[in-house]
Amino acid sequence: MRLSLARYDPAWMTLNRNSASTANGMSKRIALIPGDGIGPEVIRVAEQVLAALAASHHLPVDCKTFDWGAEKYLREGVALPAGAIEMLRRDFDATLIGALGDPRVPSNQYAVDILLGIRFGLDLYVNQRPVKLLDARLCPLKSVAEKDVNFVVVRENTEGAYAGVGGNFKRDTPDEVAVQEDVNTRKGVERILVYAFEYAAQKGLKKVCMSDKSNAMPYGHGLWQRTYADVRRRFPQIDAQHLYVDTLAMEIIRNPSQFQVIVTCNLFGDILSDLAAALLGGLGAAPSANLRPGSISMFEPVHGSAPGIAGKNVANPMAAILTVGMMLDHLGFPEEAAQIEKVVAEAIHLGMTTPDFGGRLGTREVGNWICERL
Ligand SMILES: NC(=O)c1ccc[n+]([C@@H]2O[C@H](COP(=O)([O-])OP(=O)(O)OC[C@H]3O[C@@H](n4cnc5c(N)ncnc54)[C@H](O)[C@@H]3O)[C@@H](O)[C@H]2O)c1
Repeated sequence: MRLSLARYDPAWMTLNRNSASTANGMSKRIALIPGDGIGPEVIRVAEQVLAALAASHHLPVDCKTFDWGAEKYLREGVALPAGAIEMLRRDFDATLIGALGDPRVPSNQYAVDILLGIRFGLDLYVNQRPVKLLDARLCPLKSVAEKDVNFVVVRENTEGAYAGVGGNFKRDTPDEVAVQEDVNTRKGVERILVYAFEYAAQKGLKKVCMSDKSNAMPYGHGLWQRTYADVRRRFPQIDAQHLYVDTLAMEIIRNPSQFQVIVTCNLFGDILSDLAAALLGGLGAAPSANLRPGSISMFEPVHGSAPGIAGKNVANPMAAILTVGMMLDHLGFPEEAAQIEKVVAEAIHLGMTTPDFGGRLGTREVGNWICERL
């Protein structure tokens, strides 16, 4: 058995049976990592959505579930099992992850080991977070229509302040010194900028905004400035703009319609994409993808494990469902992806939502409604 790390799931069998009857027989293999907190609840719905599409659209997908997360870590002391990265690369086309984080493990190190382990191990250097308003009533800004909020945050995903370079000196003494390095390489900065410009060009978009803090961080972000000057010259058809990150944060709120593609470093991209998610009504509808063009990618809702609402059937599954849409689009099923977005928007318009979006349904009921429509 090649996939000895997996535990079988009845849903996998259903999806696999359906996909076996597809025309070319080439199923897309998806590794599911439900994770912690609300992760398993929203991934269960995501799996249901895949099963619904497998049945109605003959979607060729095989899913396998992995129990990596807090429970396994507490039980066995294992975060990311040995050989996991190689197995994902070898045996799967995509990974779909719920969320990681559990109050019983305050250090959060196991979650970092799994999440950053996969991002760094597979060198998934693009973190792509679409910010698309599906219903104007969810936006906290005045007089904003759906068309006014439709951009993508492209975040560098393997370097910067999250590279894990640093240390503590004289730890736990009054003289403690803590250093967290901000790591920027020419290769890393160039490839994320090229990705953002190529993405805009491929999607027929006109505008790319690069954001840094080069006025205050002249070494690391000076490299971003110089690389940006070089890369933008290769895409003369794109209207390239630069904003310092503090100004960008203000402009996203003041006038979000001016943006199409925003590209920035790991730390700023993390913060800005949560800020931008607020324009969509919150984290409940914010999907994301960790990509490496031409290789296996990992998809995850932007939200965390939300331990405070875990197990209560109130978590909004729409971010996870839209994440399935991003994954399908990436795997070559754009029609199914568009269908998912359409049905999620319909659910929001009709109030078929969890309480965070003003509705009265539970996680499972939203999932059931969406699956029936699909
Ligand atoms: N990618 C990840 O796995 C990831 C990302 C962020 C945080 N985390 C972890 O998650 C844990 C909690 O972190 P946090 O509270 O800062 O962020 P969080 O995203 O879990 O929650 C922030 C707020 O949004 C709400 N929320 C989040 N998702 C929701 C959903 N789908 N439906 C309805 N409400 C939702 C929560 O109840 C909470 O009020 C921590 O352990 C953190 O490290 C993990």
